[in-house]
Amino acid sequence: MPIPHRSTVLLTGAGGAVGGPVLKALHAAGHRVVALVHRQDVAGGARSVRGDITRPLFSLPPAEYRELVRNVDAVVHCAAATEFRPQPERTRAVNVTGTDEVIAFAVRAQARLVHLSSAFVARAELVRRNARLYAGTGTTPVSTYLESKQEAEQRVRAAGIPHVILRPSLVIGDSQTGQVNRVQGLLASWVAVLAGWVKWVPIAADSTLDVVPSDLVARAVAASLVTEEADGQHWVTAGPHAPDMRRVTELLQRASAGSGGPTRSGLECVDPLTTVRHLAAAGPDSSASRVGSVRLMRQMVAASAVLHDAPPFPATTHRLPGVVAPTTELIETSLLRTVAHLNAHHVPGDRPVPRPSHVSVSRPRQEPDPSCTPPLSPHPSSTC
Ligand SMILES: NC(=O)c1ccc[n+]([C@@H]2O[C@H](COP(=O)([O-])OP(=O)(O)OC[C@H]3O[C@@H](n4cnc5c(N)ncnc54)[C@H](OP(=O)(O)O)[C@@H]3O)[C@@H](O)[C@H]2O)c1
Repeated sequence: MPIPHRSTVLLTGAGGAVGGPVLKALHAAGHRVVALVHRQDVAGGARSVRGDITRPLFSLPPAEYRELVRNVDAVVHCAAATEFRPQPERTRAVNVTGTDEVIAFAVRAQARLVHLSSAFVARAELVRRNARLYAGTGTTPVSTYLESKQEAEQRVRAAGIPHVILRPSLVIGDSQTGQVNRVQGLLASWVAVLAGWVKWVPIAADSTLDVVPSDLVARAVAASLVTEEADGQHWVTAGPHAPDMRRVTELLQRASAGSGGPTRSGLECVDPLTTVRHLAAAGPDSSASRVGSVRLMRQMVAASAVLHDAPPFPATTHRLPGVVAPTTELIETSLLRTVAHLNAHHVPGDRPVPRPSHVSVSRPRQEPDPSCTPPLSPHPSSTC
């Protein structure tokens, strides 16, 4: 059953890249939102309840948990471990055990569950194959992340509760403003490119990069609460409208020049295997080479395992009530605006950089910290 207008929705991960825009969309749809926050409260009019999804009863006092069970009509589950960590136990604890706890809550509350998964779960095998080529091992933090997301989906399907699983591709900024709630994963790698820390993109020029604006994902979440489906699954992707890397690099350069940010010339797409050979010759973590930062480049090679030789994703967002399918124009405009936002607020330059309070990442001053850079070995971090 769809939930009625003005329902009470428990939102996990409200402080994240996806959770922030989802919070706004749920308010816009008239719902009351209780944000289950982890390390910090969120602004935006939601009641914040601090908890940990990996712990029984989310670590809440039992009376508070029972009160939520009584009052919550639906759960939107955005919390996840999205950094590609070297410790697989942590990724599994948040993404699998955490999802089990969220399911247990939804069962007790008899609440509809909207679960955020990832389009890239469909590429888990491809990632293992590519990782063996690049790194000599099929098990990497990227594959661990995707397997944990696959397992979480299975737990949701087996739970016997009304649910919708959403599979977004790579989430960029808002389609109108380019604003991003948190810079991580793909967007952190764009900051590295825009800042000139890397000079090659270690992804073949004909690989597609499927990106979706965050407000489209948020609208898909809100629509999933009111669809009639009892067990839906939707691909929130650009699908046939995803640009290839040749086009992405053109757009990155155009947006960088247009916004007055640092203009980088001659950004080049290079096959990941060629990059791997170059890096092997460069030696262990020398700070600079012809490709730029060796450390960042290694991370980007690892991340490219999700893109190389991959068929396009299906796109089914338009089947959700009131959600329009993305077009090439929407995707490219959103990408340009996102890059303009990154240039204005996150890429170091000579000019003073305003730092709005709604952006939760520190503006990097030199190379980004490994905890907010693109994933890949040895200490990858990203989201897909
Ligand atoms: N961003 C993308 O490009 C993308 C693409 C495809 C799919 N997705 C999926 O979309 C969902 C949201 O991703 P995102 O990008 O918004 O992630 P994110 O920016 O990394 O945010 C993750 C959120 O989860 C919270 N969290 C982590 N551990 C927790 C715990 N133990 N208990 C409670 N909350 C916890 C974090 O809170 P603290 O920061 O306070 O710890 C944070 O608010 C995830 O399921 C992700 O797999 C994202």
